[in-house]
Amino acid sequence: MIKFSSVDIQKSKVETLVIPICEDKNIHADRTVAVLGKKALAVKEFQGKSKDELTLYNPARVKCERVLFFGLGKADAIEAETLRACMGRAIKTCIGRELTQVTVAVPAAKRLKLDEEAALEALIEGGCLANHMFSRYKSEEKKKPLKTIAFLGSPGSAAGNRRAAARIEKTCAAVTQAREWVSTPANDKRPDAFARQITKAARAKGLICRVLDEKALKREKFGAMLAVGQGSQVKPRLVVLEYRPKGAKKTVALVGKGVTFDTGGINLKTSSGLEGMKMDMAGAAAVAGTMLAVADLKPKMGVVGVLPLVENMPSGSATRPGDIVRSYAGKTVEIGNTDAEGRLILIDAMAWTVKKYKPAAMVDLATLTGACVIALGEKIAAVFSSDDELAEAILAAADKTYERCWRMPLPDDYKELLKSDLADISNMSSGRWGGAITAALFLSEFVGDTRWAHLDIAGAAYSKKDGPYCPAGGTGFGVRLLCDLLAHQKLL
Ligand code: BES
Ligand code: ZN
Ligand code: ZN
Repeated sequence: MIKFSSVDIQKSKVETLVIPICEDKNIHADRTVAVLGKKALAVKEFQGKSKDELTLYNPARVKCERVLFFGLGKADAIEAETLRACMGRAIKTCIGRELTQVTVAVPAAKRLKLDEEAALEALIEGGCLANHMFSRYKSEEKKKPLKTIAFLGSPGSAAGNRRAAARIEKTCAAVTQAREWVSTPANDKRPDAFARQITKAARAKGLICRVLDEKALKREKFGAMLAVGQGSQVKPRLVVLEYRPKGAKKTVALVGKGVTFDTGGINLKTSSGLEGMKMDMAGAAAVAGTMLAVADLKPKMGVVGVLPLVENMPSGSATRPGDIVRSYAGKTVEIGNTDAEGRLILIDAMAWTVKKYKPAAMVDLATLTGACVIALGEKIAAVFSSDDELAEAILAAADKTYERCWRMPLPDDYKELLKSDLADISNMSSGRWGGAITAALFLSEFVGDTRWAHLDIAGAAYSKKDGPYCPAGGTGFGVRLLCDLLAHQKLL
């Protein structure tokens, strides 16, 4: 839990004090550090560089069991992300030492380039996101998240701080929920089970939930989505989550790819290709997580989250390469490669969403292509949109949350690569080059004239290594970005 504290550390006792401090250590600019005195920091090893750490036990002048200093690097280079990362390191250290509560001295923002509010928000965000671990599958887990993180010397009004903290805590809880879903093994989140987990969480938040099962999907003619799911013993589900505030006239739609495991199907992936494919539902996890946050944050417009959930398996009943199916929109699709399944479930989900909700804007998130990871690596997502304003709004949100995105083109003449000899369109382009682009172009054929953007999060959705405020596993990429986007009404 986040708290704000106004204790005088010279008079009242604080168990653990965390002090982020910059390289030049101008301690007089920072009251909390100043009370400790110059001598306290006269340690050669601690320069305040971005990796430096120093612990003092029972320091003179303050009533504190221990003070932990964390370097921030040079003052003029400090950004929101520096503060998130610093808090991440601090919380990890404190959890490692089995502490239960810490008090964080908010750095004097005058010395930073950031405004005070942004600095405090970044500290809270880094703290909340780092203070979480996924230990459901560990029989014995000694490490526990901290119970409280208190901020000392925070700027702004008490009410303003509390409001910001509540908003950030809720958003971060949605991020950690998305992370957990992505990290959950595929045997515990097959389409039926995953649909139940999502609707349970969504109902608890008061969202309107609907689940279309195989029978309903057949009735509604989700031909492309059903073709992907037909090789699995657990059949597809379409989960629809709705937030409908009173008086809202317009709706924004969020659609997330939910392949609970992607074997590639009959075009079976290689051993290394199969590794980690439990994360192929990260788009759905991000959208579901965002909807949970939306229920708390209450933006002005209506928001609908649409999650096509399938398991892509090879079997005697699986779709074959060369099969032709009729998609929800009515266009026939030749399935050139059963491993290009994401675009098949998305076109049905998006065409249905457009018809049913006529959204003012639609954004889809998907771990869609390996080609995207080749192009942008494992930390940056690709944004595709022919709507400049929408693309710019997404890039601005990405900049703020440091969920990095890079805009990619949707060249009309590349559509030629999607031609099929027999059907209206093929799900595999002729050749591997520009794979992220051809996948996005394929999607663009099914959204009509709806304002639409596609985020390929294939690289950013999962991390094999610990990050500064995100442990190895699902990253929850997209939740903070979408929450920021929805808060600014640029979509309408
Ligand atoms: N789920 C994969 C994309 C992916 C790859 C996500 C690596 C995360 C990490 C997707 O369904 C897929 O297999 N795409 C194919 C498309 C190809 C067959 C046209 C790909 O990228 O190779
Ligand atoms: Zn695939
Ligand atoms: Zn996939």
